Amino acid sequence: MTYESILVETRGKVGLITLNRPKALNALNSQVMAEVVAAAQAFDADANIGCMVITGSEKAFAAGADIKEMQAKAYAEMYLEDFFVGWEGLTRIRKPIIAAVAGYALGGGCELAMMCDFIIAAENAKFGQPEITLGVMPGMGGSQRLTRFVGKSKAMDMCLTGRMMDAAEAERSGLVSRVVPLEQLLDETMKAADKIAALSLPAVIMNKESVNRAYETTLAEGLRFERRVFHSMFAFEDQKEGMAAFVEKRPANFRNR
Ligand code: CAA
Repeated sequence: MTYESILVETRGKVGLITLNRPKALNALNSQVMAEVVAAAQAFDADANIGCMVITGSEKAFAAGADIKEMQAKAYAEMYLEDFFVGWEGLTRIRKPIIAAVAGYALGGGCELAMMCDFIIAAENAKFGQPEITLGVMPGMGGSQRLTRFVGKSKAMDMCLTGRMMDAAEAERSGLVSRVVPLEQLLDETMKAADKIAALSLPAVIMNKESVNRAYETTLAEGLRFERRVFHSMFAFEDQKEGMAAFVEKRPANFRNR
């Protein structure tokens, strides 16, 4: 597939997706949505890939859903198209996706970053859900995911005032896992992605699935799920290899089986 609004490349075992609509600060229109999801699905199906990264430019990860695309739409059109439903494809990707965020991650940009498994932010990153200032509200998960990330008080503050949160506040609040200098953003993110991609893929996917369970179920169910999945990992050769390598004081050679 050829892509027009994103750049797609493979670096070792990592699939890198770069949002590329610089003139619109990477605003997320339907084409970007289709291309990002298609690229992530292709990496998910590629046995040589173990992790993915989604990034933008130094000025903007993405300044939101494309306001110009939405502006004239009527309710019936939005409803019948189920506008934004395509992004759900990204949340069904099994391999980990890291968001490397510099500059603006606003509205849909913040929501896209939160659909990824974790966020590494540059010092200049700014997160926000400014939809209220447009007379609307988040529509790609912001009111739900932001609340789970940062709690009710801060999520209300962000959604009701539309203010931006800088990288330091985002790290303090648990929205991002780490903050790095802008010039090191991609290197640091690739290091994390390389590290994940070198591990046992089934173990990586099961870890991702289990952490996500924490958001979707009760503690008792989640703990039961975790324990069952943990037990099942003893069917993998990679469990034998990982533990043998530790005991024999050598690096593990995982074979994804
Ligand atoms: N949609 C469409 N175009 C956008 C855009 C967006 N979300 N954000 C920026 N652009 C365009 C601008 O219209 C401008 O295009 P022109 O040159 O053709 O006029 C270009 O990108 C550069 O933007 P600015 O001139 O505004 O750049 P700036 O540096 O002065 O300001 C900014 C940067 C503060 C991010 C400002 O662009 C801005 O406020 N953008 C909109 C942010 C926003 O409201 N996002 C939420 C969108 S709604 C949404 O996301 C719904 C949802 O839940 C999914």
